[in-house]
Formats: sequence, structure tokens, C-alpha cells
Amino acid sequence: MADTARIALDGKELDLPVVRGSAGEVGIDIAALRRDSGAITVDPGYANTGSCRSAITFIDGEQGVLRYRGIPIEQLAERSHFLETAMLLLDGELPAREALGSFMSHITYHTMVHEDVRSFYEGFPKRAHPMAICGAVVGALSTFYSDSLDMHDERQVEISIHRLIAKLPTIVAYSYKHSIGQPFMYPRNDLGYAANFLHMMFATPCEDYVVDAQIARTMDTIFLLHADHEQNCSASTVRMVGSSMANLFASIAAGVHALWGPLHGGANQAVVEMLRQILATGDRGSDYLDKVKNKAAAGVRLMGFGHRVYKNFDPRAKILKKLCFEVLDRVHASTPLLDLAVELEEIALRDEYFISRKLYPNVDFYSGIILQALGIPVDMFPTLFTIGRLPGWIAHWHEMIRDPDARLARPRQIYTGPTQRDYVAIDDR
Ligand code: ACO
Repeated sequence: MADTARIALDGKELDLPVVRGSAGEVGIDIAALRRDSGAITVDPGYANTGSCRSAITFIDGEQGVLRYRGIPIEQLAERSHFLETAMLLLDGELPAREALGSFMSHITYHTMVHEDVRSFYEGFPKRAHPMAICGAVVGALSTFYSDSLDMHDERQVEISIHRLIAKLPTIVAYSYKHSIGQPFMYPRNDLGYAANFLHMMFATPCEDYVVDAQIARTMDTIFLLHADHEQNCSASTVRMVGSSMANLFASIAAGVHALWGPLHGGANQAVVEMLRQILATGDRGSDYLDKVKNKAAAGVRLMGFGHRVYKNFDPRAKILKKLCFEVLDRVHASTPLLDLAVELEEIALRDEYFISRKLYPNVDFYSGIILQALGIPVDMFPTLFTIGRLPGWIAHWHEMIRDPDARLARPRQIYTGPTQRDYVAIDDR
């Protein structure tokens, strides 16, 4: 196997080192390319660019494989739970019983936010998007917890990690309570992570709210399935912001904002809105699919389909489709959205347009249907994705700050503007 790749440019040849990953992926190390040839690479959207070496998550998009620290997502969804999987992502190994117990206890005892954080919410308009609130409050944590911002002090980093994982569900639930004008519910230490989140979302001081164990387990699995996805848009954003040595809270706040967009974490909201819109027109989906295929308007896509990396099925979508049937059965929900989604999936998977472009259901196609059946409003969907993705973001930030090869992230460009010209006085323009 070659350990260099040769390129020829303007009559000059250059050998570039080849880097191989543990699962056989091949990269060409271009770190010296500009120095030795004067040229750079151009790769809009970074689809062919490896930004780092990482030992956290492996994806084989052609085979539909996703593994956290080597362990298949199917096994984790079946046998693990979110906080254990978070530790796996953060530490690299499944934790021993005692370490897991200690971690879970730290998370439980950090779930309250500083009382003054609550007053922030009063300043936000009631109709504010919860992701905007979430990003703002996560960023503001660095003002309240300035005692744990030194990224070179492992103990401070550990405290910040506990604070973030523990407080994010509280921050998210408060944004929901604020939007509907209900009192904020304090966390309950006798509940597990997902059950406590459901309690803070749906309980009121007026009566007891009993969290259904199966629903809590489903919520936990949804968090787990979202926990990492290697160098996706938001994780790359966290790494990029963190590369300037910005603190963990600031870096994670940037990740929240990156996740908000409909092409990334906002897609499950877009899926439910699309399904509702199709149902409202009385169409069974074929008219809508025609519009998608004819690119009838900019941005008309079959939301929840397609993925930058998966060119075969998304393994998370398979697990979520099964969960979707179980949850709707459990909550006795009517199933028009699910029925339509299944129908659309069947039509699309037989259609040449989707086959030739290798477009399959992604993680968002079924997750939104589950969440709306649980009574979660659509604009809250990306905030739940945020809770799930948090351990992955932190693992990437942590891996980066300890990586001796990590540098300030600063891409270059091919300039296409005017070449040098003179300033023209305002009267002469
Ligand atoms: N519906 C219809 N056509 C699509 C779709 C879709 N969902 N996705 C891609 N295509 C088409 C494009 O129009 C393009 O067609 P063309 O070759 O005729 O121009 C071709 O497939 C390639 O699409 P790109 O946009 O170049 O693929 P890219 O890798 O950049 O996009 C993305 C990936 C953004 C996820 C895209 O598939 C999409 O917009 N999907 C819908 C939104 C969505 O579900 N996002 C969630 C992603 S998962 C996540 O972030 C958690």
C-alpha cells in the first residue's frame, strides 16, 4: 500500500503523505501542500476534507454503519442508556459500575441552574424560538460558572462537563414552560435523566405527574441515538470555535446555533411540518414528491431524506421507525402522520430520482413523529436533539484541546473579487 500520493502541478511533482485510519479510510495529508506548491485545495462544504484525526465515532455511510468508540449503535440502543453512552463517548471506554454511579450522581446533583438564570427567561419574548433561548442561555453559563473555565485544568473541565450535561435539560424545559406561561418545575433527584426531563416539561405544581417508564426509556433512546455523529456541522462548529481556545460553554453555545438550521437539527421539525402540509392538501404524497423531483421551488425537498454521509440506510432511522410504532401504540395516538411517512418512504425508495441519488430516510424522518406523539411541540424538537448531541460535542471539544496536532481552525479561499483598483472619490462614482 502506497504511503504517499503524487500530484503534478505546473510541471512540478509533489509527494504527499497518505494517512490511514483504523477502519481503513485513506486520507492524503496536504498540510505541506501550500508551502511546497503554492496551491491549496478547494472543497465547498468540506465533503472531502478530513479536519482532524478522531477516535470517537465511526461511520461507514456506504454500509449504513455507526459505531461509538467501536460499539455498534444498535447494541447501545438495545443495551445501554444515555448517560452510560455519554461516558463511553467522553472517556473512550464503557464505565465500571462504580464510575458510572458516581457520574450519574454528579449529573443528578447539578441539574438545578443558578436562580438568577431563571430571570433571563423573563427578558425573552414568549414567541421566541426555544433554540434561540437555548443557545443564549448556554452561552450565558460562562458568566455564572466562571470558576470552571480554565481548559488546561482537568478538574475544571470535568466540572463544566457535569454542569452542561446536567443543566441542559433544565434549560430546555424552562424554555418550553416560558413559551406557554407555566411555572418552571425544579428538577427531581429521584428521577432518571430522561424521566426528569419529561417531568420538568410536563408537570405543574398543581398535581402529580407520573412519568411513564416506557416513554422515559424511549426519550432516553432518542437522546442516545443522537449522541454523536463525528464531524457533522455542529460538532465541527464546536471544534472550530474551541480551536480559538474559547471556553467550553462558548463552544457548545456555537454548536447549539449550528444545529438549529433545517438542513441539520431542524430537520425533524421540517418533516412534521411537511407531513402536516401534505395531509392538509388531501394529497397522499405523490403530488408533493412530484414537486420535489421537479425542484418546483427552491428548497422543496423530501425532508428527513438524504444525508451527506449515509448513501445507504441511516441505522438510526431503522431503530426510530420501530420505536415510532411502539410509542404510538403506547400513547394510543392516531397515526395519520406515521401512515403518510411510511407511504412516502415506500414510494421514494422505489423511485428512480431517490434511488439514483442514494437518498434514504435519515434520523429525522421518524423522530419528529415520535416527539409530537409525546406532546412535544415542533419548535422544541431541535432542543431535544441538542440534549442528545451534547456528549458528542463535548467529546470532540475535549479530544481537540488535548490533540498535539490541533491548530487554530482557519481555512483559506480562492479569491474571485476584483484585482487591485483605486479608490474613487464619492463625487466621481
Ligand atoms: N429531497 C429531494 N432531493 C434531495 C434531497 C431530499 N431530501 N436531498 C438531496 N436531494 C438531491 C439534491 O437536490 C441533489 O440533486 P441534483 O443532483 O439533481 O442537484 C442531490 O440529491 C444531492 O444533494 P445535495 O444537496 O448535494 O446533498 P448534500 O449531501 O449536500 O445534502 C442534506 C445532504 C442536506 C441532508 C440533503 O439530503 C437534504 O437537504 N435533506 C433534507 C433535509 C434533512 O433531512 N436534513 C437532515 C440531515 S440529518 C442531520 O443533520 C441530523
